[in-house]
Amino acid sequence: MSEIEDFQILKDGLDYKFFFNGKWKNSESGKIIPIRNPYNNELVGNIQACTKEEADRIIECARSNIECWNETPIRDRAEILREAAKLMLKWSKPLGSLLMKEIGKPIKSAISEITRTADIFNATADSASQISGETMMGDVFKGFTRETISMTYRVPLGVVLCIGPFNYPFNLTGSKIAPALLAGNSVVMKPPTQGALTPLHFGIILEKVGVPPGVFNIITGRGSEIGDYLTAHPKIDMISFTGSSETGKSLAKMAGMKPLLLELGGKDAAIVLNDANLDLVVKSIISGAFSFSGQRCTAVKRVLPMPNIADKLVENVTESTLKLTVGDPAENNTIGPLISSKQCDYVQGLIDDALEKGATLKCGNKREGNIMWPTILDHVTIDMRVAWEEPFGPVLPFIRVYSAEEAIQISNQSEYGLQGMIFTENIDLAFNIAQELDVGSVQINGKSSRGPDHFPFLGTKSSGLGTQGIKYSIEAMSRPKVVVMNLTEKGKLVRECKFEGN
Ligand code: NAP
Ligand code: G3P
Repeated sequence: MSEIEDFQILKDGLDYKFFFNGKWKNSESGKIIPIRNPYNNELVGNIQACTKEEADRIIECARSNIECWNETPIRDRAEILREAAKLMLKWSKPLGSLLMKEIGKPIKSAISEITRTADIFNATADSASQISGETMMGDVFKGFTRETISMTYRVPLGVVLCIGPFNYPFNLTGSKIAPALLAGNSVVMKPPTQGALTPLHFGIILEKVGVPPGVFNIITGRGSEIGDYLTAHPKIDMISFTGSSETGKSLAKMAGMKPLLLELGGKDAAIVLNDANLDLVVKSIISGAFSFSGQRCTAVKRVLPMPNIADKLVENVTESTLKLTVGDPAENNTIGPLISSKQCDYVQGLIDDALEKGATLKCGNKREGNIMWPTILDHVTIDMRVAWEEPFGPVLPFIRVYSAEEAIQISNQSEYGLQGMIFTENIDLAFNIAQELDVGSVQINGKSSRGPDHFPFLGTKSSGLGTQGIKYSIEAMSRPKVVVMNLTEKGKLVRECKFEGN
């Protein structure tokens, strides 16, 4: 990757700085956190372990710059987002290559994460004209007349804290930054530690396209060390978080009255009825379960097949799974490393538990370093951990069911409620089952997916709070402001027109 001249400013050698008030800085803590390639353990870079005092200064700076940004015409804010998108497209290859190195994402997916974020910035900019309010007359209610008029428009919430996860570190910080800035907020971004290097480049991009100093800031450091402090900070006005349910629930307790947008874990189940299109199901499951080695919140994490299709489905999925390429993400292998050895240990524990309790191993259960071969477990029962826990790795349990009611019951029994899937040719039945599933979204004859990114995306139960998706995110990062006009008699027109109705 040829170094982009502009990229030099944010680092000294491999020591990346944090971004505050338009400047790149080293932390006064003097501590750095190494970021290593999960595939080969090579050092990719070091990030600053910022202090709580630095957090105070960053947040104060963001707060003091809200007015200047909110008073910038929204058409100008939108144009800035469009210019930022152009830079993301221009730099998608070097940024994608860095992303691949720091989280082990296959190179093509890593580059598409950058271009997808550019699309989000453009679509958010296009939403500028839709940010509007409404006017109402008071004479709907007794005691009020048409001389009482409310005028509503939307205003920013203030300082928005954007916290992203390791698996889409650029896209799932960018999908928060864009609506926050368009709505007129200032932003403090806390990227995931493993995955921080690529989103740090938002500092270069947004500064270059004209976001004023202090409006967009980046703080780095382990969430376990500064996360609670940021969450509870009295001068943070809103938190948009994507990450695990465990962290999200803890954050919600710390956040007090702050408005929250939480996108959390999932255990998306694919219900496969006897009449499903087998080839379509196999293709959807392979892609849905094993893209980025299953490290997606919307990964297919359970398959609930009906009896007449189960055997053939398991065989065909196993056959396709065995064809998946495994290895170096730089060679665009589908299955690459998991994010950490600890995560591999966790996934292995789920596999071991299932096998000890009688599950049938169809393929996989093999590990080299942080690479885990895609594993298919058949005849999984509800006493096994893998039936309920989120692996965030390439392991797929088949839990055989004998009726739609049983499939609905097992699907809804999960603590998660992100997305569900129904595969059948009977669309009426699919729609009726969909209405019974306690999830944010149901895919009929398709794999679970967050995209397209203007669609509403939400989870129930442990999967989240609030709704993401371009216009929904803008609404979540702004609020109505109501001005009520009480006109006086002085200006009133007098005319005789008596309503003779009964
Ligand atoms: P995570 O461990 O919860 O971390 C997510 C983010 O929270 C990171 O930036 C992390 O910082 C930060 N954090 C950690 N502790 C914190 C605290 N006490 N206060 C504030 N922030 C804190 O999740 P992950 O491992 O990065 O991502 C995987 C999880 O995210 C999975 O469960 C997946 O399902 C979920 N996810 C959900 C969606 C969705 O849209 N629903 C999308 C992607 C991922 P550090 O990195 O420094 O720890
Ligand atoms: O886990 C990340 C989540 O946002 C999935 O996105 O587009 O891969 O379904 P997508």
